[in-house]
Amino acid sequence: MQKNLSVLSVNEVKTIRLDDANDAAVIIDQTLLPGEIRELRLRTPEDFYDAIRRLAVRGAPAIGIAAAYGIYLSVKRLETDSHDEFRRAFTAHYEYLNASRPTAVNLKWALDRMKKILDENAHRPIDEIKALLMKESVDIAREDEEMCEAIGRHSIPLLRPGMGVLTHCNAGRLATGGIGTATAGIYLAEREGYGLRVYCDETRPLLQGARLTAFELSASGIDTTLICDNMASYIMSEGLIDIVFAGCDRVAANGDAANKIGTLSVAVNARHYGIPFYICAPSSTIDSACPASNAIPIEERAASEVTSMWYEKPMAPENIKVRNPAFDVTPADLITGIITENGIVRAPYEENLSRSVKKK
Ligand code: MRU
Repeated sequence: MQKNLSVLSVNEVKTIRLDDANDAAVIIDQTLLPGEIRELRLRTPEDFYDAIRRLAVRGAPAIGIAAAYGIYLSVKRLETDSHDEFRRAFTAHYEYLNASRPTAVNLKWALDRMKKILDENAHRPIDEIKALLMKESVDIAREDEEMCEAIGRHSIPLLRPGMGVLTHCNAGRLATGGIGTATAGIYLAEREGYGLRVYCDETRPLLQGARLTAFELSASGIDTTLICDNMASYIMSEGLIDIVFAGCDRVAANGDAANKIGTLSVAVNARHYGIPFYICAPSSTIDSACPASNAIPIEERAASEVTSMWYEKPMAPENIKVRNPAFDVTPADLITGIITENGIVRAPYEENLSRSVKKK
């Protein structure tokens, strides 16, 4: 069921929430932004898989929250007294949802938190387990909101009034349960009247920077300028960028950080121009089990996203070979610091990151 909210500002509605009856997760369908703000209700495992897969809900933390709500709502509807049957269904939904998108580790992190609740409470009546799973999914969403605020507080000391900030993709409100990760410092600084100038890379091929970041920042009254991805180095050469804030889908144990395709070019350019490049990510994005970049799975998406998706007719020769990796990995040595809810982690990342990972 869909509900049109075109009269509401994007910043007045939550990116994802449980409805009042705890019967469905309500998301803003991000595939329709910025033209239309429409809510979508997700109930079944297929609803969640599809919404994550086609980026109706996207951004690493929001994907994690969706997965948690998804597994809770999927098992909530089961009518059984059999613990074996309950666990079998839980495991099947876990595996199904975990396969929806490969790169953002927050997906598995959230599902693992839900599984831990099941494992630790397996002896309880099934209704109690369902209630505990509901609570855990709501906690995951609430904690994400708090983590965004904390990332913002740690980002503020890096900013000065009037600075130019470059962002890539959308690591904002629309990607999280709160005020975003890469945007958190920007939102908090604006509350203090910093008058920042934010440049948003449009982020080919799915235009999250243009459709989402430029949309939510400008809707908040922030001085926002949209640029094509290939303009970033020129804008840097003009001296207009003082700092880069980017989000992240997975930080490996050595500090290599996967984020939306194009982030690596931004980091290389930032190094060339001596501009600090920060990754902003909650600790749920740190994957200590993943040693380095070559162990991070990179999602490859359909060729049509590159050749035809936004055009009236195809803008490439028929049958041309296309690559469409959705993410790239920025090596740790190009990263000035990784801002988590626990503070700014700097090199040597291997030892400093492990200290920062929240035990949950
Ligand atoms: O493919 P997307 O839109 O899910 O990619 C999102 C990003 O790359 C974000 O920067 C990342 O998930 C961090 S969101 C706080």
